[in-house]
Formats: sequence, C-alpha cells, structure tokens
Amino acid sequence: MRQKNRTCNVLVAVALLIAAPAVMAQTDSAGKDQVKRGLYLTNIGGCNDCHSPKLMTPQGPQPDPARMLSGHPANAQLPPVPTGMFGPGQWAALTNDEFTAWAGPWGISFAANLTPDVTTGLGGWTAAQFIATMRTSKHLGVGRPILPPMLTYALAALTDSDLKAVFAYLKSLKPIKNQVPVTVPSKGP
Ligand code: HEC
Repeated sequence: MRQKNRTCNVLVAVALLIAAPAVMAQTDSAGKDQVKRGLYLTNIGGCNDCHSPKLMTPQGPQPDPARMLSGHPANAQLPPVPTGMFGPGQWAALTNDEFTAWAGPWGISFAANLTPDVTTGLGGWTAAQFIATMRTSKHLGVGRPILPPMLTYALAALTDSDLKAVFAYLKSLKPIKNQVPVTVPSKGP
C-alpha cells in the first residue's frame, strides 16, 4: 500500500513537472499578446503625439525612439507664455515644438513620463490605479483632476482588458528617468 502511494506521488510529481512548463509557456504567450495589443492601442491612441519627445526629421517631428513615452524632457527650455492669448473666442492652447508642454486657460501641463521608471514614471503604479485614472480623470483615481489636453474620456470608454493591455505595454518599455516638471497654475487670460 505504502509502495503504491509512493508510486502515485512520483507519478503526480512527474505530471506536474511536465505540465508546468506548458502552462508557463501559455502564460508567456498570453503576456506577449497582451503587450502586442497594448502597443497597437497606444499607437492608434496617439499617446506618442504628446508623451514622446521628438526628433526633427524631413517628415517633420517624429517620436524619438530612444526616449519613447518618457514625457516632457525635464531640461527643456520653454519661452514665456504671452499674456492675453486665451479666453472665449481666442486661442485655446499653445504647445512647444515637441508637443509635450501645453499652455492654456488651465496653466501649463506637461505630458507625463509613461515609462516604468519607479521614481519618475509609472513604475510604482498598479493596473488598477491606471484604469482608475482613465475612468475618473483624476490622478490615480483619487487625486487632482487631470488637465487638458489629456482627454481621458476616449480612454475611459476602453474595456478593462484593453486598458490592462495598454498598461502592460507601458510596463514593458525601457524605464527612463525623466522628472517631468509640475503643472504651472494659470495666471489668468
Ligand atoms: C494631446 C496630448 C496627449 C495625448 C494624445 C495623450 N496624453 Fe496623456 N497626458 C498629457 C498631458 C499634458 C498630461 C499631464 C496632465 C496633467 O498634468 O494634469 C498627461 C497625463 C497622462 C497620465 C498621467 C496621469 C496622472 O494621473 O498623473 C497618463 C497615465 C497618461 N497621460 C496616459 C496617456 C495614454 C495611455 C495616452 C494614449 C492612449 C495618452 N496619455 C495620450 C497629454 C496627452
């Protein structure tokens, strides 16, 4: 009897050893598919338009592959915002030549670092916090309101699984240390 149990245990252990890599391979390929879908959604969502610093090319400004989605460059120099630009019937926004800094009636907002750097990017965020941010348009779902031109309403309409895919893609990026400046409050029109 004891002998039989031992044989059984050995068989179970062997079965687990065979099954485990197969399960791991499955999760691996599911993870790869999720990241691929995230890349696809990030591209059509235009996240690079604002969140990636640009290189000037003969085709105009293009996202810099070396600084993909790392946000408004911390060391960029910006000219002062002219007064009297904004208001009803006037201009709604001004942007820099990288489309990473945006001035408007709300002040100046800077596109966030979306790479997984822990101190300056999304490295410390969970998928749940990312989803909550997009759904509520508040920082981490509970903090300050997110300013234009980061329009979360289109993203809020994505399914949880699509938002998780975007987040998985962002987490798969190379972490880049870039401390985006804090928002400059509005000085009035
Ligand atoms: C038109 C420009 C623009 C586009 C397009 C854009 N963003 Fe943003 N995003 C911004 C700006 C500017 C901020 C900073 C807003 C602020 O400080 O309130 C921001 C902030 C964020 C934040 C940080 C929010 C927080 O709570 O700190 C996340 C996350 C984010 N964007 C994700 C995305 C994703 C994902 C996409 C693409 C699907 C995207 N953004 C497309 C301009 C943009």
